[in-house]
Amino acid sequence: MRQRAQFATKMGAIAATVGSAVGLGNIWRFPYEAGQHGGSAFLILYLACVMVIGVPAIVAEFVIGRGTHKNVSGAVRALAPGKRMHWATWPGIVASLLILSFYSVVCGWIVEYLFQAVAGTLRAGTLSDYHRNFSAFVANPWRCSLWTVLFLLLNMVVVRRGVKRGIERVARVMMPLLFLLLLVFCVNSLLMPGAREGLRFLFHPDFSQLTPRVAIGAMGQAFFSLSLGLSCLLTYSSYFKDDTPLVKNACVIALLDSLVAMMAGVMIFPAVYSFGMEPQAGPTLVFEVLPAIFYQLPGGYVWAVLFFALLFFASLTSTISMSEISITYFQEEYAMSRARATWLNTGIALVLGVLCALSFGVLNRWTVCGLTLFELFDYVSSNIILPLGGMFYVLFVGWWVNRTFVDNQLTNGGTLKMAAKGPLMLCMRWVAPAAILLVFLYGLGLLG
Ligand code: TRP
Repeated sequence: MRQRAQFATKMGAIAATVGSAVGLGNIWRFPYEAGQHGGSAFLILYLACVMVIGVPAIVAEFVIGRGTHKNVSGAVRALAPGKRMHWATWPGIVASLLILSFYSVVCGWIVEYLFQAVAGTLRAGTLSDYHRNFSAFVANPWRCSLWTVLFLLLNMVVVRRGVKRGIERVARVMMPLLFLLLLVFCVNSLLMPGAREGLRFLFHPDFSQLTPRVAIGAMGQAFFSLSLGLSCLLTYSSYFKDDTPLVKNACVIALLDSLVAMMAGVMIFPAVYSFGMEPQAGPTLVFEVLPAIFYQLPGGYVWAVLFFALLFFASLTSTISMSEISITYFQEEYAMSRARATWLNTGIALVLGVLCALSFGVLNRWTVCGLTLFELFDYVSSNIILPLGGMFYVLFVGWWVNRTFVDNQLTNGGTLKMAAKGPLMLCMRWVAPAAILLVFLYGLGLLG
């Protein structure tokens, strides 16, 4: 049997999982979703979902992945032999490809901005300049598609080099730097004239904004941002060593990930109000505010280049983790070579990604239920497939998997004391599944 790869150190394991979790989901998707869904009500629900559903669901994926050291389907099959339960993991593999496709489009936007920032064409201007600049760019079929394609090819090259070297090295250096830079921008935003209004929008509890759409959106965001529900963390944890502390890692990831999302909020919303914009602008929000934030600072050129470069790496560590799902699956279930599996993954994402890229321009009339392809891929995967996947994993670990096996994973074979084991199992068996169900029922308009 082929020797499976492993992360070299415990730090490497954390760095790679945080690298997967922290990405455009925090810095691009969180502010725009919060902006569209009433700010504080969204934030509170999102945090509640992270704690009540997110942490138990991360642990569930870890238990399955690290416990079996297999790809998702193989792992579920090993824990439920002779049953057809591994079928439940297929939607996740499809969703990983859908997410990779639309995510790469936004990564392409980052590359464009990085390019413009370096070339000096993205410079101090008015908000309407930024708006015009961005709208013209996303409507340009060639440029958008080109960056999406290039990004996916780059992702493929990095993924081809294997788990350890590529992922660990990039994640370890870039993440802390991005964090520091965000801190600087947060302080800067807090000094802006609109700071008070921006903070109020994000932090002042206002439950009049709470609607079924907000609830579904907040839960979807929690899953998306934590890379949960489609076995991404499961696949990564299959590379963990047997002494990696699972519960502690799950808490660190949830904490850091939410912190980065909130920092992105603190950086964006004061600026939005201070420049007199509307927070509801949608997917383009962040791309219109960011340049304005950078270029009103002294040394704007440097800030912009640094930020887009770091965000680029943060996104790359996320797309690497998404690719890893289907690649490990193709490799281990269909005995493909890694090279072939990587090509297949990239090929599918290239076709779908270009379609998504075009959905802001020439294909903007291709809609389903009023959603463009880009929006549809995002909505279906984040708000539906991920929570259902998460539900499967918590139920599977909570009810099906042998209790001794679960205990062994949680305590690393009895070497760790786990005071929180009781409440954690309670969450996995009852609270998290019930919460997911409640949000779905509420979202469908069947409750209240
Ligand atoms: N969590 C990442 C982000 O916030 C995106 C991501 C990576 C993801 N892997 C995933 C989302 C798996 C869902 C499933 O940018």
